[in-house]
Formats: sequence, structure tokens, C-alpha cells
Amino acid sequence: MTLLNRVRALPKGFVWGGATAAYQVEGSTKVDGKGKTMWDDYLKKQGRFAPDPASDFYNRYSEDIHLSKEYGLNAIRVSIAWTRIFPKGYGKPNQEGVAYYHRLFKECLDNGVEPYVSLHHFDSPATLFEDGDWLNRKNIDYFVDYARFCFKEFTEVTNWFTINELISLAYSQYIQGNFPPNHHFDVTSAIQAQHNELLAHARVVNLYKSLNLKGRIGLIHVLENVYPIVATPENQHAADLQYAFMNQFLLDGTFKGEYTPETMTLINELLDINNAKLEIQDGDLDELKKASTQNDFFGLNYYQSKFVKTYHGESENHFNGTGEKGTSSFKFKGVGETVKNPDVPTTDWDWNIYPEGLYDILKRITKEYPNIKTIYITENGLGYKDKFVNENTVIDDSPRIDYIEQHIEKILQARSEGVDVQGYFVWSLQDQFSWANGYNKRYGLFYVDFETQKRYIKKSAQWFKELADTMK
Ligand code: BG6
Repeated sequence: MTLLNRVRALPKGFVWGGATAAYQVEGSTKVDGKGKTMWDDYLKKQGRFAPDPASDFYNRYSEDIHLSKEYGLNAIRVSIAWTRIFPKGYGKPNQEGVAYYHRLFKECLDNGVEPYVSLHHFDSPATLFEDGDWLNRKNIDYFVDYARFCFKEFTEVTNWFTINELISLAYSQYIQGNFPPNHHFDVTSAIQAQHNELLAHARVVNLYKSLNLKGRIGLIHVLENVYPIVATPENQHAADLQYAFMNQFLLDGTFKGEYTPETMTLINELLDINNAKLEIQDGDLDELKKASTQNDFFGLNYYQSKFVKTYHGESENHFNGTGEKGTSSFKFKGVGETVKNPDVPTTDWDWNIYPEGLYDILKRITKEYPNIKTIYITENGLGYKDKFVNENTVIDDSPRIDYIEQHIEKILQARSEGVDVQGYFVWSLQDQFSWANGYNKRYGLFYVDFETQKRYIKKSAQWFKELADTMK
């Protein structure tokens, strides 16, 4: 059966969405009382990229929502910028920020584009970041206050995600060093941040449920499967260690409400080798346990999987943030070395294009975590150097279409075998600012000229419309 026929057979409510994140699209970082995030001064100092005007979504959201509707999308992922609501992360709410999000949500709902809203997407308030960000447990209290405010204020929103990609934030901040505060292989901070973010998620879910609101809540993890490059027991062990650190620790905490002995054996091995430690306070696990059965849905972001071999030298890495193919490397002491699989194509940023990994992950987590209910693929897409030709030529991003098609194929295969995926959000709706790569790594269905802010259609948008429209 063709892809279109299989899509036609999907249930009516299946979600076809485009994804965004506040700091990557809104721009307007200094207007209407917005506070600074951990990125503002960092990007200025670095001098490579500016977050303004990004895709100017703060002013052009209406145009983007109309485009979404026109191109068959029935949903959009957006995030609320914590610092538009509470400029310092706490204190008195900023009414101009509140009003902006009411306008945005209204525009979405008036156009039949359902908003799926994250409370935190990598944009910690600068004030809280300086006090330790997620490593400081006070941050959790402020986050809960912010969430409570949003739940009570934005009653028009019925699909909430607490935090986007807990691992990416912790890993980029403390292992890979390409997000502020740019630590390399600070394993203690990376594992502690993960635990503290999980605790924040759990408290917010427990709060949401206690308020008896009519909506749904969950969180978003990015998952990467990890395979031994050559199947030896040592390489398999390296794959297991990396899988535990990148996926299993967080999945256990979210959906089992505990870190199982199997997981902790791997995590403790990794911590010991790196002289690192994790602190879990009395009562933390009770909160995780309570929340573990209460997630209404799970947002799964998937881009790539990894191939590894065993590695016992010192940790070192090089991050490819320029799109020069073949320049990334990653060696994690006592865990493993990430290597290239010659049979697997890669993007210019060295991300493996491996849709089978998504299928394997979907099957594995459904088996291992019965508390995972409905799954939405909340991000999936291809970073590519799209070429603008002229005003009248549709931008040819065929590699992106291939990428999306191959991944949707795998999702449908998993669905036909009982995995309850109910929606797919392409990353990203329009071209936007990429945290550590700036503006030449584009993902959008719609091309953005960052000088003029004009939107242009890409072939992937036309392809996506055909797909989504088959269900109408
Ligand atoms: C996800 C994030 O990790 O991947 C997005 O949720 C991000 O915010 C996307 O932009 C793609 O990553 P990158 O680094 O290629 O922009």
C-alpha cells in the first residue's frame, strides 16, 4: 500500500503539526517587558549569532498560523517564554507577555490549528541561570509557580508539555559544552540536572492533576537508539552505557517513578569512572512515583541514532556547529566513542539518517514502559542548507521530503504493530534560529528570508499538504 493510502486509513483525529520554540522563532527579545534568558548575554559575547529577529514570530504569528492551516496542518507546537511571563523567573507577572500568548493561542484556535504548549524549551531565565539553573533546587519551586500561573491563566490551552528534551539541555550544557555554561564532561552536573528536571516535571504534573483541569499533560524526551558498530560484548556494553545515560535514566524516572537497579548499575559504572555523583533527596522518588502514572501523553523527538565502540581514554569531543561534514567527534571516558557507520548516510552536521532507529525505539519503549500511553512524535526533521533561487521558484528541499517520508513510514509500521502514535510534528514549521548552529541550518517547511522576514514555500510544505489533506 502506498504511503498516502496508509495515511488515509489513519483515525480522524491524527495530528499533523509543525513545531517551534519561543526563543528560536519569536525574536523581540527586548520588548514588552521581556526578561533575559541564559542565551542573551552569551550570544552577544560569542558574537556569532543574534537571537533577534529570529523568525519574527512575535509579530508574524498570524501569517505562520494561516500558512499552517493552508498547508494542511491541524496543530502547532509552541513554547511559552518563561521570561515573558516572569521577567526574572519569579515575582510579578508581566501583563504584556501574558496578553501576547492569549493573542497567539486565540489565533491558533480560531484557525483550527491546535496549540501544544511547552513551558520550558531551553530558555532558562538569566537570573535563575546565574543561580545554578536546574542544579539549584530553588529553580524547581520557581518553575512550579510559573506552571501554576500558566495553568490558571491560559485555560484555552488543553495540551501541555512541561519540559522539552531534558537530556539535550543537560548534555549540551555540561557534557558537550555547546550551551551555556559550556562545561565539558561535567558528569555530576549533567546527571544532577536530569534528576532535578525530572523532579520539576513530576511536581508540575502532580500539581496539574490536583487542579482538575480539562486538558492533558506530558513531557518531551528526545530519544536516540545506540548500536554497537561491530557486535562485540565490549561494544554492546558501550552502547548500553550510552543508552542508559541518554534515554533510560530519564524514561525510568518519568514512567516508572524510580531508577531501576538495572539502570543504576549502568549509571553508577559511568559515574564511578568519571568520579561523579548523583544526589537524590528523601521524598524525591515518591514524587516521581506519583507522577509516573499520570502523564496523559508522551512527546517523542527523534532525529538520529548513534553507533559506538568501547573507549577507555580521556573524554574529548568536537561539536560540528558549522555544517562541515565529518568534523564532529565524541569520546566519553569509560562509556564509548561515537563512530561513523559507513552504511548510514549523514547530514552536513554529521547526524545519522537512520529511520530504523525510530522504529526500534518505539517498539522498545512500548514494551518496557507500560505507563507510556499515547505517543506524539513532537519533533522530527532534517537540518539542511536550503537554497533560495528567486521569488517565483519553489525551494527544492527533496532530501527533507525523503527524510520525513522514511520516518513516517517507520512510525506507521510501528503503529500497525500496536504502538499508539497519534500525531507527528515536523521540526520545524518555518526556518528558525538553531541554538548552536545559527541560521544556516534550516529545518522549516517554510523558508524564511531572515533579512526581510518574507516566507517562501518549500517543496516539503507542498508534499506535507498532500499527505495531511488525504485525511480530510
Ligand atoms: C531539538 C530541539 O533538540 O532539536 C530544538 O528541541 C532544536 O530546539 C532541534 O532546534 C534541532 O537541533 P539543532 O541543533 O539542529 O537546531
